[in-house]
Amino acid sequence: MTNPSFEFAHAITRKPSKSIIAGLRAENTGTPDFAQMEIDHANYVATLRETGAEVIELPALEAFPDSVFVEDDALCLKDVAILMRPGAPSRMGEIAQMSSTIRAQYENVFEVKGPGFIEGGDILTTAREVLVGKSARTDAAGVAELREIITRFGYTLREVQTPPDVLHFKTDCSLLDGETILATKRLDASGCFEGYKVLHTADGEEAAANAIRFNQFVIMAAGFPKTAGMLRAHGYTVREINNTECAKIDGGMSCLSLRF
Ligand code: GLY
Repeated sequence: MTNPSFEFAHAITRKPSKSIIAGLRAENTGTPDFAQMEIDHANYVATLRETGAEVIELPALEAFPDSVFVEDDALCLKDVAILMRPGAPSRMGEIAQMSSTIRAQYENVFEVKGPGFIEGGDILTTAREVLVGKSARTDAAGVAELREIITRFGYTLREVQTPPDVLHFKTDCSLLDGETILATKRLDASGCFEGYKVLHTADGEEAAANAIRFNQFVIMAAGFPKTAGMLRAHGYTVREINNTECAKIDGGMSCLSLRF
């Protein structure tokens, strides 16, 4: 029996656009190197494909600097997909660009119509529930509208809180398997993972928390040796991908794909 929260047959990615140098960021840590970002993105897609999954690679969108971060555009569940309503005004137009691809894959497609906002980076789907962190990009009305949609398909949504000054809920956590979560200590301290097994990122390696479990691999950003070693010691097959350029615009491993 498959576990739809980490066993996937498909992923959607979008090539980075040259305009990515204008991507949103909380602080300026330098201009992303586009050539390096293209190499990293190609490695990421190749790693997804290595698991046997089909990867639908969409073309770059120069009008939308952050559009490489497709995860924020939709929530893809087993039997229903929901197009999001980004809290970042510059990202709102990404949804129309993603819509036809999602509709080609799913029979049941809904759209968060507002007035609330919600981005996929704030949503962690586990085997038992859909956790949604309110953040600067996801508000209570957006969460309520998503709840109304997915409840009809039998899902349970639990509203939680993204830590202050953290972009998205999944900036600080990832699913490792049906019952295990990788999280920063600061997020775990909120109590939102009660009942799960939680593994912590190493001190000083909080940025390693944004990983993905994709079939047999845990795919994480390179440069976090203590956390990578801890995951290997727990039996996970870890693949590390350079993320220095995406990190400059607050992006990580989960942001770069939709998985279903
Ligand atoms: N740069 C990623 C985001 O802010 O949406």
